[in-house]
Amino acid sequence: MTHAKRYLVTSALPYANGALHLGHLAGAYLPADIYVRYLRLMGKDVVWVCGSDEHGAAITIRAKKEGITPREIIDKYHELNQRTFEHLGISFDYYHRTSEPLHHETAQDFFLKLYKKGDEFEERTVEQYYDEDFHQFLADRYIVGTCPRCGHPEAYGDQCEKCGSDLSPSELINPRSTLSGKTPVLRPTKHWYFKLDKHAGWLREWIATGILDGKQHHDPRQWRKHVVGQCLSWLDGGLQPRAITRDLDWGIPVPLPGDEAAGKVLYVWFDAPIGYISSTKQWALENGKDWEAYWKGGDDVKLIHFIGKDNIVFHCIVFPAMLKAYGDFVLPENVPANQFLNFEGQKFSKSRGWGIEQHEYLEDFKDFPNKEDALRYALLRNLPENRDSDFKWDEFVDFHDKDLADNLGNFVNRVAVLTHKYYDGVVPAVDGPWQDKLEEVNRLALELGRELDNFSFKQAIQLFLDISSWGNTYLQDTSPWQIWKEDPDSLVVKECLFVSLQIVTLLSALCEPFIPFTSPRIRALLNLPPLKNGDLTGIFDQLQKGEALLPAGHRIGEAVILFAKINDRKDSSRLEIINSQKAKLEEVIKAEAARQAAQAPATVVAEAKPEIQYDDFSKLDLRTATILHAERVPKADKLLKLTVDLGYEQRTVVSGIALHYEPEAIIGRQIVLVANLAPRKLMGIESKGMILMAEDAEGRLGFVSPPEGWVNGASVK
Ligand code: 2FM
Ligand code: ZN
Repeated sequence: MTHAKRYLVTSALPYANGALHLGHLAGAYLPADIYVRYLRLMGKDVVWVCGSDEHGAAITIRAKKEGITPREIIDKYHELNQRTFEHLGISFDYYHRTSEPLHHETAQDFFLKLYKKGDEFEERTVEQYYDEDFHQFLADRYIVGTCPRCGHPEAYGDQCEKCGSDLSPSELINPRSTLSGKTPVLRPTKHWYFKLDKHAGWLREWIATGILDGKQHHDPRQWRKHVVGQCLSWLDGGLQPRAITRDLDWGIPVPLPGDEAAGKVLYVWFDAPIGYISSTKQWALENGKDWEAYWKGGDDVKLIHFIGKDNIVFHCIVFPAMLKAYGDFVLPENVPANQFLNFEGQKFSKSRGWGIEQHEYLEDFKDFPNKEDALRYALLRNLPENRDSDFKWDEFVDFHDKDLADNLGNFVNRVAVLTHKYYDGVVPAVDGPWQDKLEEVNRLALELGRELDNFSFKQAIQLFLDISSWGNTYLQDTSPWQIWKEDPDSLVVKECLFVSLQIVTLLSALCEPFIPFTSPRIRALLNLPPLKNGDLTGIFDQLQKGEALLPAGHRIGEAVILFAKINDRKDSSRLEIINSQKAKLEEVIKAEAARQAAQAPATVVAEAKPEIQYDDFSKLDLRTATILHAERVPKADKLLKLTVDLGYEQRTVVSGIALHYEPEAIIGRQIVLVANLAPRKLMGIESKGMILMAEDAEGRLGFVSPPEGWVNGASVK
């Protein structure tokens, strides 16, 4: 990547309705922290903003569940998340909140500017679910029902968490309001839509070729393939206008006068990315800076969004379109989105107790030395940069013991110990050129910088490790301890220690972005101050010029153990911490197995029937049909009278499902009907056919449905 005058870096604003787990950390925060720390060391002008995303229905729902106000929820998690990030060395320049007045003003200004342009928004009146008991429209999350794809009975109006399908509330089968528990009714409501479709042309060109307004904006080959792929497939699917307002009482009021906007707020995904701008504004206010120099600085600025893959479309399509529609704003130079991190082979799941949250880690590992860097390092080695990856405690141990303790820690310690032993802690002077010894190390260091420039963090940490390994091998191959025994004045020993000390000094600087708690410890061991912004530029310059990073005659500090091994026969305390994490997971697995076993007999819901021949089966005329009308049968609690459409005819069917379905909730449902069952009379009504239902051990009935949108009258075989 070419260098810019200013860097504007953002990380996804986490929702302030819960704690963050290690997957979040690996996704949008740790990589950004590494990148920004590196830029600072390189003396770049960089601002990194983040903050809490405090609007949206997820927050009001959580508040309702806990019986507290949304404000209490956001205050609690804003504080927890901010503090936890800080403990882990995540070094945002500013961590703002979208509930702050400055953010509300900024988001409302954005809305109004686009509104006044006249051709960015359109107004639509749409039918939306309304809860008549609670007198309010229901945000998608407030509606639950059966997923039309997998049958999960608790799918949300926007998504089924079981099968992961994106849904709209109208697709839910048997929808219910989470407020009253009742079936909501459809009512018209007015909303504002951002005409995303009109931006499709330039978005495609910008994403596919990097060309924006006729100029090469960035090199599209620098974008991760999965990011470009996801964007193009969205564009291929066709962009539609997107509703950017909601009927909700928590959020940023739609800034339009009169009744039409009353009770409406901006959609959380409209205001959240604007949170990057308001966070920058607040940072600028508090630090005497000009926020516009970053957001409106044209080619002088590189804007980088760090996010997880679930946010790609918002950051590569929707937000850029908003920024461009507003005018004058910079667009992202890159969006190095990560894929997902799993945990011990499965998805993180708070409800199942699978995974570990950041703050839990800090608590559980409070007695674990250098716990922050141990975690950062383990996540870094496993970053889901281009594909999903998996966090495993066994790997955590390996990374810690083999890389940090045996490789880096051991090298640094040995060099310090030997320098004290042979030269009383003073860097020895060498005769003649030593620079060629460091050629390989210099090459690796420069390559490491390039990898960081390209957001290849895993590759960069591998190069860091290669430098440390090179140092170890060099020390081992030279074996100064053998030569020194014979000849304490040996020039070879002096050179070996001198060169090794240069490598340790280089490592103390290169490690700062990755393991920032360890860098000052190595610096202290070298009797050097912690790094300041810009120091790495000087170090790279010195390397190029062949100057020593640690001059002869410099007195170093005390040798220390940087990382105490987890697998240590003399001290099992660290292994116990790991083992207790594994034990927690075993408990989850055991509890789930026990629950399943308890349910197991119930899964045999009915006794098996005797074998039949194909001919017996083929006598059934099974057909798809749609329920057109449904009503209760007077004096029969269990019966519903249904009119069903078979495509070729309509029929009346009486079905014993009244205890399972509200009549109004099943209108429009597609079902499968035994169409050639002899008619029979039930409560005086002739029923022609029978609807197929699945029955579970508790006697619950569920429709057997054809795939969505199937024609009526199709035969089921
Ligand atoms: O997915 C999320 O957690 C959102 N809160 C991310 C918002 S990113 C940005 F737009 F603010
Ligand atoms: Zn589903």
